[in-house]
Amino acid sequence: MAKLTVNGKEHDIDASDETPLLWALRDIVGLTGTKFGCGQGLCGACTVHVDGEVTRSCITPLKQAAGKSVTTIEGLSEDGVSHPLQKAWVAEDVPQCGYCQSGQIMAAAAFLRDNPEPSDQDIWDGMANLCRCGTYLRIHRAIKRAAR
Ligand code: FES
Repeated sequence: MAKLTVNGKEHDIDASDETPLLWALRDIVGLTGTKFGCGQGLCGACTVHVDGEVTRSCITPLKQAAGKSVTTIEGLSEDGVSHPLQKAWVAEDVPQCGYCQSGQIMAAAAFLRDNPEPSDQDIWDGMANLCRCGTYLRIHRAIKRAAR
């Protein structure tokens, strides 16, 4: 049993210590915005924040997140107001299939928090999540828009 704070709410998670955080979030907490892609820490579809740090939840055992504060895409808006990145994502019409986009936005949110005025190169260097549809240029534009 592990205690997790997810999007500000505490949960008792009845699962083994080695259960990937991704499955605790999706199957036990019931938040399915975080996606399974590669399952090997490579693509970033499963990106969440753990105590504010970008974390690939598919390779993060529950014991590593226990007692910490997890933020998922469902918790990114505040008081019903979308995060500036979520608004920028809509304005730039970023997604194609959409599957990787919650992970992209979570990665971008941490990136922008740490780099509030990023250069183009900063964005190319700082965003490592993969998108099979190749929406990288629109992701880039949305991050620039949100940074304005
Ligand atoms: Fe976790 Fe790809 S599903 S990095």
